[in-house]
Amino acid sequence: MAKGRKNGLYEGVSEELSALMRTGWADTERRGLEAGEQAPYAARRRAALSALFPGERLVVPSGNLKYRSNDDAYPFRPYSGYVHLTGDQARDGALVLEPRAGGGHDAYCYQLPRDSRDDDEFWTGYTAELWTGRRRSLAESGAVLGLPCRDVRTAAEDLAAGSGVPTRIVRGIDPALEAAVNTDEERDGELEDALSGLRLVKDAWEIGELRKAVDSTVRGFTDCVAELSRAVASSERWIEGTFFRRARLEGNSVGYGSICAAGEHATIMHWTDNDGPVRPGDLLLLDAGVETRTLYTADVTRTLPIGGTFTPVQRRVYDAVYEAQEAGMAAVKPGAPYRAFHEAAQRSLTARLVAWGFIEGPVDRAYALGLQRRFTMAGTGHMLGLDVHDCARARTEEYVDGVLAPGMVLTVEPGLYFQADDLTVPEEWRGIGVRIEDDLLVTDDGHENLSAGLPRSADEVEAWMARVAG
Ligand code: GLY
Ligand code: MN
Ligand code: MN
Repeated sequence: MAKGRKNGLYEGVSEELSALMRTGWADTERRGLEAGEQAPYAARRRAALSALFPGERLVVPSGNLKYRSNDDAYPFRPYSGYVHLTGDQARDGALVLEPRAGGGHDAYCYQLPRDSRDDDEFWTGYTAELWTGRRRSLAESGAVLGLPCRDVRTAAEDLAAGSGVPTRIVRGIDPALEAAVNTDEERDGELEDALSGLRLVKDAWEIGELRKAVDSTVRGFTDCVAELSRAVASSERWIEGTFFRRARLEGNSVGYGSICAAGEHATIMHWTDNDGPVRPGDLLLLDAGVETRTLYTADVTRTLPIGGTFTPVQRRVYDAVYEAQEAGMAAVKPGAPYRAFHEAAQRSLTARLVAWGFIEGPVDRAYALGLQRRFTMAGTGHMLGLDVHDCARARTEEYVDGVLAPGMVLTVEPGLYFQADDLTVPEEWRGIGVRIEDDLLVTDDGHENLSAGLPRSADEVEAWMARVAG
């Protein structure tokens, strides 16, 4: 009898049971599958990568399960660079671009095949299909991805055997594959940077997915407004759960930890504990984004008066942020320096802070010294896509020192944050935090605000909340 697992309730598997389990299964191979709609886009993305690294083998893994305890794994999220180049989300996969003698590359994908039913692992292994769900066969993956697929269980051996070919791998994703290839850390880093840079301009398919992410997010925000009175009776967690339900229903999940920050929590940039009270009279800063089932995320913030109406001080802060966002968004157009939207928004906020007497003028001096940052904290936005802070590894000269181009998608998200213990502002300003964040697509002649479905001005927000509250 084969031995059972430690502390399992069965002592083992008898030979008779083992034999019984191996037989009597239907052929469930799916034949005649067609390539997914993303396949031709992924092929073009691979061609762009191929052109950057002639004569080199490139290995882009998807990643492995990470265990939380014993056999309980964290939800798996594939490496975004792999998703971009394949459209695939499988764990334990890897894309390989193999250099061709005459130039260019042949692409193939390593995948974990379906479990064989010739041994016990297919029903005793807790990450086996019978426990976690059916995978695609290699032939099925080949058809769906439009890529030849090979068994990943021989990948380390194959790649080690071919070590004469100059190779780069994206590090930090799959330790076993990384150990199998003899690569240089700096050159591997260049591959990762290049993959990040290739994602700066979104193709038509990606823009469609980002629209879906934003549209679901708009519905999620509306859900949260509709549930505000229940959040008041509960906590910020009610808001988090409400948004999460929409994200799981329409998408894959949330694209990042939702920030459901009521009262003075709104001044904490990455408040994700979400365990505080929700009180009428305070503001709720809600920063959340639905990630589509194809793994593209929105990133939207609205700051809402929980009781439905801004107090005069809250409105002053809100209007200043609104005005800064208008100034920032006006600077989003093709050919503009990337930094222009940030500078426009930050200058606007600096002018307000000087006028209010919270920082010393004149405005040019305060801005040059960055004095506004005591109250604005963060940069005014970032690229958006498969990752919430997308393209973070792209070369600086093509990202923050570059210019905007049609197809780029970025957030514009100025804010003002007056900490609860900040003695440099009047008491009634302390604990107020306001951010307004929208997702903008750079178009041929300017931009489109993808999240325009949510109200932005203070009056529009109040009217919307009254309407949704019914
Ligand atoms: N939600 C993270 C950010 O706005 O950048
Ligand atoms: Mn955000
Ligand atoms: Mn953001």
